[in-house]
Amino acid sequence: MLVTGLEILSRARKQGYGVGAFNTNNMEITQAILEAAEAKRSPVILALSEGALKYGGRELTTMVREAARDARVPVAVHLDHGSSYETVLRALRYGFTSVMIDKSGEDFETNVRETRRVVEAAHAVGASVEAELGRLAGIEEHVAVDEKDALLTNPREAQVFVEQTGIDFLAVAIGTSHGPYKGKGRPFIDHERLMKIAGLLGADYPLVLHGASGVPQELVQRFRAAGGEIGDAHGIAPEDIQKAIAEGIAKINTDTDLRLAFTTRVREVLNDDPKVFDPRKILGPAREEMHKVVEARMDLFGSSGKA
Ligand code: G3H
Ligand code: 13P
Ligand code: ZN
Repeated sequence: MLVTGLEILSRARKQGYGVGAFNTNNMEITQAILEAAEAKRSPVILALSEGALKYGGRELTTMVREAARDARVPVAVHLDHGSSYETVLRALRYGFTSVMIDKSGEDFETNVRETRRVVEAAHAVGASVEAELGRLAGIEEHVAVDEKDALLTNPREAQVFVEQTGIDFLAVAIGTSHGPYKGKGRPFIDHERLMKIAGLLGADYPLVLHGASGVPQELVQRFRAAGGEIGDAHGIAPEDIQKAIAEGIAKINTDTDLRLAFTTRVREVLNDDPKVFDPRKILGPAREEMHKVVEARMDLFGSSGKA
């Protein structure tokens, strides 16, 4: 069933678990996410970026919305990293139940002003709003405190930002970054900063962690073995994800892990059978591989069995 992002996340916060926001760009990814959510009885958020909207257009959004509506678990359809008011309105017209406006690259005042506009429009039609404060950048443990302060979310600013904008959930920068290269070994997460932010916003306020993929080493190795090229890839450790959920994170964004699962399996299938040319024989196994990743994430987040 289609619900708002806030309905899913406020419940998650109150009960102390996290919910995955998984990026989708086509039918197989959407099915992998929803079938895993139903198998695990977990609420879930289907995230579509501007790149996804450009790639899949109306056909993609219609399919995703219909699939979310038919699902036997609560599903929110969410705009990921909306860069403008216009994109947000487009998503709302498509029937999204949750939107992100990302003006984190602008100065604080502009971010507040632009986010406020989006909140007025989205709330008028019953959709939830996420916005971001700080820069998503991989941070090494030894980086100086003032350098961290310049990049990562300032707790006091976070409190003012939420009060002035009226957003429903806030994406925080605490050391994670997008993609497969999040730092060496166990990438650094600023748990202290997260606890300060959560302390000021209140225990029930839903916070969002972008760049949260785990980049499973087993998949990285299989990707390489199948001929893929990838550097020193590391994701966020499972212990850090669970600690962050206990500290206030409600929404955990995951895209890279699905891309890795998809492409690894496609490579393996094509390598194993050079004669294969039925797309279903290539995309079907990729869908199964992504399904496994999503189920494992739901167990990690504690959302399994909550729907
Ligand atoms: O945060 C970004 C997501 O991984 C979506 O990526 O803009 O390439 O669709 P994309
Ligand atoms: P990953 O690249 O870690 O999967 O993060 C995805 C994300 O934050 C989407 O908004
Ligand atoms: Zn993101």
